[in-house]
Amino acid sequence: MGINIIIIIIISLLPLFLLISILGGTDGVDNRCDFPSDFIFGSGTTAFQVEGAAKEDGRTPSIWDTFVQSGQQTGDTDVGCNQYHKYKEDVKLMADVGLEAYRFSISWSRLIPNGRGPLNPKGLEYYNNLINELLLHGIQPHITLYNYDLPQALEDEYGGWISPKIVEDFSAYAEVCFREFGDRVLYWTTVNEPNVFVLGGYDLGFLPPERCSFPFGRNKNCSKGNSTTEPYLAMHHSLLAHASAADLYRTKFKKDKQHGHIGISIYGISLAPSTNSKEDVHVAQIAKQFFYDWVLHPLMTGDYSNLMKKIVGSKLPIFTKDEANLVKGSYDFIGITYYGDMSCKYMPNNWSVEYRDVYADLQIQMGFLSITERSLTSAKSLKGVLQYLMQEFGNPPVIIYENGFETERNSSLQDVARVKYMMEHIQVVFDALRNGSNMNGYFTWSFIDVFELLTGYKTSYGLFYVDLDDPNRKRYSKFSAKWYSNFLKGKTSTSLDSDAATKLLFYS
Ligand SMILES: *[C@@H]1O[C@H](CO)[C@@H](O)[C@H](O)[C@H]1NC(C)=O
Ligand SMILES: *[C@@H]1O[C@H](CO)[C@@H](O)[C@H](O)[C@H]1NC(C)=O
Ligand SMILES: *[C@@H]1O[C@H](CO)[C@@H](O)[C@H](O)[C@H]1NC(C)=O
Ligand SMILES: *[C@@H]1O[C@H](CO)[C@@H](O)[C@H](O)[C@H]1NC(C)=O
Ligand SMILES: *[C@@H]1O[C@H](CO)[C@@H](O)[C@H](O)[C@H]1NC(C)=O
Repeated sequence: MGINIIIIIIISLLPLFLLISILGGTDGVDNRCDFPSDFIFGSGTTAFQVEGAAKEDGRTPSIWDTFVQSGQQTGDTDVGCNQYHKYKEDVKLMADVGLEAYRFSISWSRLIPNGRGPLNPKGLEYYNNLINELLLHGIQPHITLYNYDLPQALEDEYGGWISPKIVEDFSAYAEVCFREFGDRVLYWTTVNEPNVFVLGGYDLGFLPPERCSFPFGRNKNCSKGNSTTEPYLAMHHSLLAHASAADLYRTKFKKDKQHGHIGISIYGISLAPSTNSKEDVHVAQIAKQFFYDWVLHPLMTGDYSNLMKKIVGSKLPIFTKDEANLVKGSYDFIGITYYGDMSCKYMPNNWSVEYRDVYADLQIQMGFLSITERSLTSAKSLKGVLQYLMQEFGNPPVIIYENGFETERNSSLQDVARVKYMMEHIQVVFDALRNGSNMNGYFTWSFIDVFELLTGYKTSYGLFYVDLDDPNRKRYSKFSAKWYSNFLKGKTSTSLDSDAATKLLFYS
């Protein structure tokens, strides 16, 4: 009898299964309603890139201010997009678009001007106001604690991230944030893109704090730094700072009072072989594993991977037993920033064995490697990144915290290409979710046009254009803002294929 009942149940459910599998096979996303309701859609910016008010209300310079002042980047960041004074207007725009969440970062040197010690009441007030304004409009705040903007005071005092002292100062800063804002904030990212900032800042030297050593600087003469050792130190201390802050959050705040999530964000490197040759394929595979393992392997296991150890050798710092315990499992989610592919090419090994940077370390072990600039290819490589995380790192909870399309800053407000890019990538996110990826959210970069890390004000990714010549820094909505708004409000009904964007343009 039992068996009969089971058979009847199976037979009666059969049409439902069939229906689900048919839909599953051909499903194009129409809009937000196709996603689970607890999946979070948002957009983001970071402090230095939008706040302005750089010299107001007690803020002191960060290493990014210094970078701009030294002429490495041009463009005014003292007023910038002026979100510091225009946050209410920006939150209103977010609410109009229908954003469910806003990802922003805290300027450490605004909140704690000397990096450690007394709080700046004006800084505290600003972030409280911003958080409250977001909540008033039903928008979840997602906070990043560190985004390329170390207080200059700490850089000057002990070299910032290359010193173990950073761990204590970062933890104290994080504790202030959890204590002051944690009653209202459920998502914390400790460090953004350590796998970019240690390479750009300490190996190639083209990002703040511009440390590097000859001959590794990219288009620059290195006056301070050591490309051979410092990238590994900076990463090691980033991991320890992250883990220490995460531990603090869990033991002191999350346990019974706050119920949020803490994670770290990494640059989602999709390293494609530049040709199908065996060598290129091999190099791309190893390089990719290297750049993920560097951050994720310690977080998962408490130690660097054997591959890392083999490639870096004695230059790789060692976790003590206590540190290993702290680092292992120190995340609730992994944030991913994703833009496009980079490609890897076989190159003859010609580096001196004595002094090597990170790239040369990779070359020495494998004999060859060249990583070229990123290119925007199809959304397929995002699929590759998500599958890689599922397969190699045990399918951790993931939030895509940045994804966006670059255009000339002054190009048309009818940014059809950006909408196509978003459609294609959102479709990939949907497919991966369907396929069992543990994905929890998707954020476009960027909400408004910001001061970009690599290009200043020359190019942009925003849903809104900001007129920098206007003293009011007026925002203008682009087609992408309208499209995203329709998507979020369940209004778009064309499947997200790339021709749809063009059609939508004519009906919008
Ligand atoms: C590096 O220094 C040399 C000699 O002083 C100079 O000729 C060259 O232009 C400098 N390169 C850069 C990128 O600053
Ligand atoms: C970098 O550090 C290594 C190890 O301490 C040292 O041997 C090397 O001379 C340093 N390089 C520079 C450019 O200071
Ligand atoms: C290695 O070879 C490449 C290509 O020939 C060249 O551009 C590069 O400067 C060489 N590097 C060193 C360290 O000699
Ligand atoms: C945008 O700026 C660039 C560089 O200043 C200029 O060459 C281009 O013509 C401008 N495009 C528009 C649409 O104004
Ligand atoms: C789903 O996952 C499998 C194996 O993990 C992979 O082969 C397949 O390509 C994935 N499909 C999508 C749409 O991500």
